[in-house]
Amino acid sequence: MAEYTLKVRRYQPESGEAAYWEEFKVDLDPSLSVLDGLLQAKDRDDGSLSVRCSCRAAICGSCGMKINGQSGLGCKTQVGEAQELAEKKASVSPDANGETPPIVIEPMGNMPVIKDLVTDMESTHWTKIRRVTPWLLPHGEAPEREYVVEPESMIDITQSMACIQCGACVSSCLSMEADPDFIGPAALAKAYRFVGDPRDAETKERLHDLAHDPHGIYDCTHCFSCIDACPKGVAPMDQIMRLRRKAGEEGIEDPNHGHNHEAAFVKIIEKKGTLDEGLLLQESFAPGVKGKLKPSKAAIKELLGSIPTVLRAIKTGKGRSVSKLVPGIHPKLPGNAQDDVKAIYKHAEEHREEFNIYITGEDEDFVEPEPDEPTDETLAAEAATAADTKEES
Ligand code: SF4
Ligand code: SF4
Ligand code: FES
Repeated sequence: MAEYTLKVRRYQPESGEAAYWEEFKVDLDPSLSVLDGLLQAKDRDDGSLSVRCSCRAAICGSCGMKINGQSGLGCKTQVGEAQELAEKKASVSPDANGETPPIVIEPMGNMPVIKDLVTDMESTHWTKIRRVTPWLLPHGEAPEREYVVEPESMIDITQSMACIQCGACVSSCLSMEADPDFIGPAALAKAYRFVGDPRDAETKERLHDLAHDPHGIYDCTHCFSCIDACPKGVAPMDQIMRLRRKAGEEGIEDPNHGHNHEAAFVKIIEKKGTLDEGLLLQESFAPGVKGKLKPSKAAIKELLGSIPTVLRAIKTGKGRSVSKLVPGIHPKLPGNAQDDVKAIYKHAEEHREEFNIYITGEDEDFVEPEPDEPTDETLAAEAATAADTKEES
């Protein structure tokens, strides 16, 4: 047993007061969970402390919260680990000044708070899940019984099917902070669950919809936060990348230039071994034109529209080198760095492998169980059954 301090972000709407912090001392074994600590505080100190939970086993998805600033499940985070992280973040060792930093617990981000650690998941999570039509849309007559599919054809979507709808990825999403209308990691992972399902007949329509939505698949900025936050290994960002790849394979061009931008990014790194930002802008709006700027009318309009972004980049220091903004004259990386990047790119292209934790290593790791040696009891029971059967016949 050890004593921990939980510093909880509280909000009690009925009081009419603003949110505030409150500390609770709890006694727990380090292997117990942060949720156990909160329930102990609720039981012993303040029954009005509100937290949503049910299974306490990382199954129901109810107890999403931020612990030391990281989104996750209260019931899956051990209090001992949370304490270590709190100390690491505060750069304070327990014996430095006799005090340990508290474990900081907040409601999930990107969602309105209803009370204490309870957030409104309807407005930011469930509405967006419904937005992606989360059910099968098969064509033709329904079979008399169930739809039968090869198990192999479902492997691709097993990872997205593991989602427990906890909202931790939504809470951690940086794009959603900037654009609350972004469909978001959980809903897009759910979208892939149906796009990748061989029984669904509206794959192209789904992809077209998600690519054309300005808050759709190209609104993700690859920040990896949702991958870190997800307690079930769904890796929502990977599902979004799969949606983008499929949209590209279907030849879907989006008005946001998301597909062109992504293709330009890859092409420039492949050719130059570094990211020429000026060329990236040109290639995103006028793909296929190298070295010279020969944009279409639409591309000219878009390029002119991007001038404020360029000026902002110069002002904020991101584009401080003018040579970085002129296509084709991007500064060279030192030594052989560009050749090294090109070699990495080539290696990655030649070793395209999907990482899906739900299937990787499945075949190698699976060992057929040896049948149990029959015991004297089972042999006797089998002999008795055989004798009974003989008598009956
Ligand atoms: S990777 Fe994309 S979806 Fe995931 S948290 Fe970052 S911006 Fe959001
Ligand atoms: S993808 Fe992961 S983090 Fe997001 S809602 Fe599903 S289980 Fe939770
Ligand atoms: S209580 Fe069910 S996931 Fe934590």
